[in-house]
Amino acid sequence: MQRAQDKGLLEVHLHALRDYAIGKHRQVDDYPFGGGAGMVMKPEPIAACIEHLKQQRTYDAVVYTSPDGVRLDQPLCNRLSLYQNVLILCGHYKGVDERIREKYITLEVSIGDYVLSGGELAAAVLIDAVGRLLPGVLNDESSALTDSFQDHLLAPPVYTRPAVWEGHAVPEVLLSGHEKKIEDWRLEQSMERTQSRRPDLWEVYQKG
Ligand code: ADE
Repeated sequence: MQRAQDKGLLEVHLHALRDYAIGKHRQVDDYPFGGGAGMVMKPEPIAACIEHLKQQRTYDAVVYTSPDGVRLDQPLCNRLSLYQNVLILCGHYKGVDERIREKYITLEVSIGDYVLSGGELAAAVLIDAVGRLLPGVLNDESSALTDSFQDHLLAPPVYTRPAVWEGHAVPEVLLSGHEKKIEDWRLEQSMERTQSRRPDLWEVYQKG
Protein backbone atom coordinates (compact mmCIF):
# COMPACT_ATOMS: atom_id res chain seq x y z
CA MET A 1 0.00 0.00 0.00
CA GLN A 2 2.93 2.32 0.65
CA ARG A 3 4.14 1.80 -2.91
CA ALA A 4 0.64 2.44 -4.24
CA GLN A 5 0.55 5.72 -2.34
CA ASP A 6 4.07 6.68 -3.40
CA LYS A 7 3.09 6.10 -7.03
CA GLY A 8 0.05 8.31 -6.55
CA LEU A 9 -2.35 5.48 -7.34
CA LEU A 10 -4.01 5.50 -3.94
CA GLU A 11 -4.61 8.15 -1.29
CA VAL A 12 -5.49 7.23 2.27
CA HIS A 13 -6.48 10.03 4.63
CA LEU A 14 -7.10 9.49 8.32
CA HIS A 15 -9.51 11.66 10.24
CA ALA A 16 -9.76 11.70 14.02
CA LEU A 17 -13.34 12.04 15.21
CA ARG A 18 -12.10 13.78 18.30
CA ASP A 19 -11.10 16.72 16.09
CA TYR A 20 -14.79 17.18 15.33
CA ALA A 21 -15.97 16.81 18.90
CA ILE A 22 -16.98 19.83 20.92
CA GLY A 23 -16.68 20.76 24.59
CA LYS A 24 -13.84 20.71 27.02
CA HIS A 25 -13.50 16.94 26.90
CA ARG A 26 -14.04 16.51 23.18
CA GLN A 27 -16.25 13.58 24.01
CA VAL A 28 -16.88 11.11 21.19
CA ASP A 29 -18.79 8.44 23.09
CA ASP A 30 -21.51 8.29 25.71
CA TYR A 31 -23.59 5.83 27.73
CA PRO A 32 -26.29 3.90 25.87
CA PHE A 33 -29.88 5.00 26.39
CA GLY A 34 -31.73 2.16 28.06
CA GLY A 35 -28.63 1.03 29.89
CA GLY A 36 -26.35 -1.89 29.21
CA ALA A 37 -22.65 -2.47 28.89
CA GLY A 38 -20.28 -0.47 26.73
CA MET A 39 -20.26 2.98 25.22
CA VAL A 40 -21.87 4.27 22.05
CA MET A 41 -20.23 6.65 19.58
CA LYS A 42 -22.03 9.98 19.66
CA PRO A 43 -23.69 11.17 16.46
CA GLU A 44 -22.54 14.83 16.40
CA PRO A 45 -18.77 14.39 15.86
CA ILE A 46 -19.36 11.72 13.20
CA ALA A 47 -21.91 13.89 11.38
CA ALA A 48 -19.60 16.92 11.55
CA CYS A 49 -16.71 14.89 10.16
CA ILE A 50 -18.72 13.30 7.34
CA GLU A 51 -20.34 16.62 6.38
CA HIS A 52 -16.92 18.28 6.30
CA LEU A 53 -15.45 15.54 4.10
CA LYS A 54 -18.46 15.53 1.80
CA GLN A 55 -17.85 19.18 1.03
CA GLN A 56 -14.47 18.23 -0.40
CA ARG A 57 -15.32 15.12 -2.41
CA THR A 58 -18.19 13.11 -3.71
CA TYR A 59 -18.15 9.67 -2.16
CA ASP A 60 -19.23 6.59 -4.09
CA ALA A 61 -19.75 4.73 -0.83
CA VAL A 62 -19.84 5.54 2.88
CA VAL A 63 -18.79 2.32 4.52
CA TYR A 64 -19.21 1.37 8.16
CA THR A 65 -17.04 -1.47 9.46
CA SER A 66 -19.09 -3.67 11.71
CA PRO A 67 -19.66 -7.36 12.41
CA ASP A 68 -23.28 -6.73 11.28
CA GLY A 69 -22.21 -5.89 7.75
CA VAL A 70 -22.06 -7.93 4.58
CA ARG A 71 -19.08 -10.21 4.56
CA LEU A 72 -16.11 -8.78 2.66
CA ASP A 73 -15.28 -11.10 -0.22
CA GLN A 74 -13.46 -10.83 -3.55
CA PRO A 75 -16.49 -9.76 -5.61
CA LEU A 76 -17.15 -6.93 -3.15
CA CYS A 77 -13.47 -5.90 -3.27
CA ASN A 78 -13.63 -5.91 -7.06
CA ARG A 79 -16.69 -3.66 -6.95
CA LEU A 80 -15.13 -1.24 -4.47
CA SER A 81 -11.94 -1.06 -6.58
CA LEU A 82 -13.98 0.68 -9.29
CA TYR A 83 -14.95 3.49 -6.95
CA GLN A 84 -13.16 6.82 -6.95
CA ASN A 85 -13.71 7.88 -3.34
CA VAL A 86 -14.74 5.74 -0.41
CA LEU A 87 -15.31 7.03 3.11
CA ILE A 88 -14.86 4.43 5.84
CA LEU A 89 -16.26 4.96 9.31
CA CYS A 90 -14.58 2.68 11.82
CA GLY A 91 -16.88 1.40 14.51
CA HIS A 92 -15.71 1.37 18.10
CA TYR A 93 -17.01 0.39 21.52
CA LYS A 94 -20.56 -0.91 21.21
CA GLY A 95 -20.98 0.83 17.90
CA VAL A 96 -22.30 4.10 16.53
CA ASP A 97 -25.62 5.75 17.24
CA GLU A 98 -28.13 4.09 14.93
CA ARG A 99 -29.20 7.44 13.44
CA ILE A 100 -25.76 7.84 11.87
CA ARG A 101 -26.14 4.49 10.18
CA GLU A 102 -29.54 5.49 8.86
CA LYS A 103 -28.48 8.90 7.61
CA TYR A 104 -25.04 8.36 6.16
CA ILE A 105 -23.98 4.75 5.74
CA THR A 106 -24.47 3.22 2.31
CA LEU A 107 -22.64 -0.06 2.96
CA GLU A 108 -21.84 -1.97 6.14
CA VAL A 109 -18.91 -4.36 5.85
CA SER A 110 -17.74 -7.16 8.12
CA ILE A 111 -14.40 -8.88 7.61
CA GLY A 112 -15.54 -12.06 9.35
CA ASP A 113 -17.65 -13.57 12.08
CA TYR A 114 -15.58 -12.45 15.04
CA VAL A 115 -15.51 -9.21 16.98
CA LEU A 116 -12.54 -6.85 16.78
CA SER A 117 -12.02 -4.20 19.42
CA GLY A 118 -12.32 -1.53 16.75
CA GLY A 119 -13.03 -1.17 13.06
CA GLU A 120 -9.58 0.18 12.16
CA LEU A 121 -8.11 -3.22 11.38
CA ALA A 122 -11.18 -4.07 9.32
CA ALA A 123 -10.70 -0.80 7.40
CA ALA A 124 -7.02 -1.63 6.88
CA VAL A 125 -7.97 -5.06 5.53
CA LEU A 126 -10.49 -3.49 3.18
CA ILE A 127 -8.02 -0.85 1.96
CA ASP A 128 -5.36 -3.47 1.32
CA ALA A 129 -7.65 -5.91 -0.47
CA VAL A 130 -9.19 -3.17 -2.62
CA GLY A 131 -6.02 -1.11 -3.10
CA ARG A 132 -4.05 -3.96 -4.62
CA LEU A 133 -6.68 -4.26 -7.36
CA LEU A 134 -6.12 -0.72 -8.61
CA PRO A 135 -4.40 -0.71 -12.00
CA GLY A 136 -0.65 -0.33 -11.66
CA VAL A 137 -0.44 -1.23 -7.97
CA LEU A 138 0.80 -4.77 -8.44
CA ASN A 139 4.10 -5.28 -10.23
CA ASP A 140 2.64 -7.93 -12.44
CA GLU A 141 -0.78 -6.55 -13.24
CA SER A 142 -2.14 -9.88 -14.29
CA SER A 143 -1.38 -11.44 -10.93
CA ALA A 144 -4.54 -10.14 -9.27
CA LEU A 145 -6.54 -11.96 -11.90
CA THR A 146 -5.03 -15.30 -10.90
CA ASP A 147 -5.63 -14.79 -7.18
CA SER A 148 -7.58 -17.26 -5.17
CA PHE A 149 -11.31 -16.40 -5.29
CA GLN A 150 -11.21 -14.41 -8.54
CA ASP A 151 -12.87 -17.32 -10.29
CA HIS A 152 -14.34 -18.99 -7.18
CA LEU A 153 -11.34 -21.32 -7.02
CA LEU A 154 -8.46 -21.41 -4.58
CA ALA A 155 -5.02 -20.84 -6.09
CA PRO A 156 -2.96 -23.89 -7.08
CA PRO A 157 0.25 -24.81 -5.21
CA VAL A 158 3.35 -22.90 -6.27
CA TYR A 159 7.04 -23.89 -6.24
CA THR A 160 10.36 -22.21 -6.80
CA ARG A 161 13.99 -23.32 -6.87
CA PRO A 162 15.55 -25.67 -5.92
CA ALA A 163 13.79 -28.32 -8.04
CA VAL A 164 14.54 -30.87 -5.32
CA TRP A 165 14.44 -29.76 -1.68
CA GLU A 166 15.09 -32.18 1.18
CA GLY A 167 14.36 -35.03 -1.19
CA HIS A 168 11.03 -33.58 -2.36
CA ALA A 169 10.82 -32.83 -6.06
CA VAL A 170 8.70 -30.18 -7.73
CA PRO A 171 5.93 -31.71 -9.89
CA GLU A 172 7.46 -32.75 -13.22
CA VAL A 173 4.93 -30.88 -15.34
CA LEU A 174 6.07 -27.49 -13.99
CA LEU A 175 9.56 -28.13 -15.33
CA SER A 176 8.30 -29.32 -18.71
CA GLY A 177 7.97 -25.87 -20.29
CA HIS A 178 4.69 -27.09 -21.80
CA GLU A 179 2.35 -24.15 -21.24
CA LYS A 180 -0.93 -25.88 -21.96
CA LYS A 181 -0.08 -28.86 -19.74
CA ILE A 182 0.96 -26.50 -16.93
CA GLU A 183 -2.27 -24.54 -17.23
CA ASP A 184 -4.33 -27.77 -17.17
CA TRP A 185 -2.40 -29.04 -14.14
CA ARG A 186 -2.93 -25.78 -12.26
CA LEU A 187 -6.65 -25.78 -12.96
CA GLU A 188 -6.91 -29.40 -11.83
CA GLN A 189 -5.00 -28.62 -8.61
CA SER A 190 -7.17 -25.55 -7.98
CA MET A 191 -10.30 -27.63 -8.42
CA GLU A 192 -9.09 -30.42 -6.13
CA ARG A 193 -8.01 -27.93 -3.51
CA THR A 194 -11.26 -26.01 -3.61
CA GLN A 195 -13.34 -29.19 -3.47
CA SER A 196 -11.52 -30.53 -0.41
CA ARG A 197 -10.90 -27.28 1.50
CA ARG A 198 -13.83 -25.09 0.58
CA PRO A 199 -16.87 -27.13 -0.40
CA ASP A 200 -18.94 -23.92 -0.15
CA LEU A 201 -16.83 -22.21 -2.85
CA TRP A 202 -16.78 -25.39 -4.91
CA GLU A 203 -20.55 -25.30 -5.12
CA VAL A 204 -20.47 -21.72 -6.39
CA TYR A 205 -17.82 -22.65 -8.96
CA GLN A 206 -19.83 -25.59 -10.25
CA LYS A 207 -22.96 -23.51 -10.62
CA GLY A 208 -20.92 -20.72 -12.19
N1 ADE B 1 -15.59 -4.24 14.00
C1 ADE B 1 -15.58 -5.16 14.97
N2 ADE B 1 -15.57 -6.39 14.49
C2 ADE B 1 -15.60 -6.28 13.13
C3 ADE B 1 -15.62 -7.19 12.06
N3 ADE B 1 -15.61 -8.51 12.26
N4 ADE B 1 -15.63 -6.72 10.81
C4 ADE B 1 -15.66 -5.38 10.60
N5 ADE B 1 -15.65 -4.46 11.56
C5 ADE B 1 -15.61 -4.91 12.83
